[in-house]
Amino acid sequence: MPSAQRHKRGQTVRLTNVDVVIRELAGLDPPILDQLASIVIDCVADGASIGFVAPLLPPEAREFWRSVETPSVRLLIAEVEGTVVGTVHLQLATRANGLHRAEVAKLLVAPMMQRRGIARRLMNAIESVARREGRCLLVLDTREGDPSNLLYQSMAYVEVGRVPRYVRSSERVFEATVIYYKDLDPVLAS
Ligand SMILES: CC(C)(COP(=O)(O)OP(=O)(O)OC[C@H]1O[C@@H](n2cnc3c(N)ncnc32)[C@H](O)[C@@H]1OP(=O)(O)O)[C@@H](O)C(=O)NCCC(=O)NCCS
Repeated sequence: MPSAQRHKRGQTVRLTNVDVVIRELAGLDPPILDQLASIVIDCVADGASIGFVAPLLPPEAREFWRSVETPSVRLLIAEVEGTVVGTVHLQLATRANGLHRAEVAKLLVAPMMQRRGIARRLMNAIESVARREGRCLLVLDTREGDPSNLLYQSMAYVEVGRVPRYVRSSERVFEATVIYYKDLDPVLAS
């Protein structure tokens, strides 16, 4: 794996030689669920806008992941030496007129493991899952100004528009969200 530098709160930590394994989960066993809960808690504490306000406590975080485990969700995790360091999932549209469509949700990388290409790998993997499931149109949204916008734009996601005051931050400030889509197969989608 390539080395990477991380700049956070004045720290620079060089990270090297880490193998990241991406895999799809068939179900959520308790140890994985606890690790996913830790990641979402840490991301929220780090300022992420992902549906929660700080402080996010373990029971709420675990309850969220339990709610994700449904037949219409495909869940991926990224692991380093058996520890979960990232995740993303795909919500398959279930209505009859939307069976070609899915929403990408909760792309999260543990704060200490960010800036190493893990999110990009998760996104590539979730797009493969979408193709396998026959979903050629992906939609997602993310907070205006977040680094995630750069990732999605670099992967050919197209901005649809912005919704002002879509969410409130942990500091109770209203913030806008940016909505994106991507045609995985523009010919099929036309
Ligand atoms: C957004 C997030 C998933 C990115 O994870 P990551 O593993 O650090 O991302 P990657 O290392 O794969 O970076 C991919 C691209 O994203 C952009 N990027 C990611 N973090 C960035 C940052 N802090 N500053 C600037 N660009 C950034 C860059 O374009 C980067 O490409 P590059 O490395 O070739 O320049 C991570 O920051 C995170 O978990 N944030 C909190 C949760 C969140 O906001 N998720 C998005 C919800 S929609």
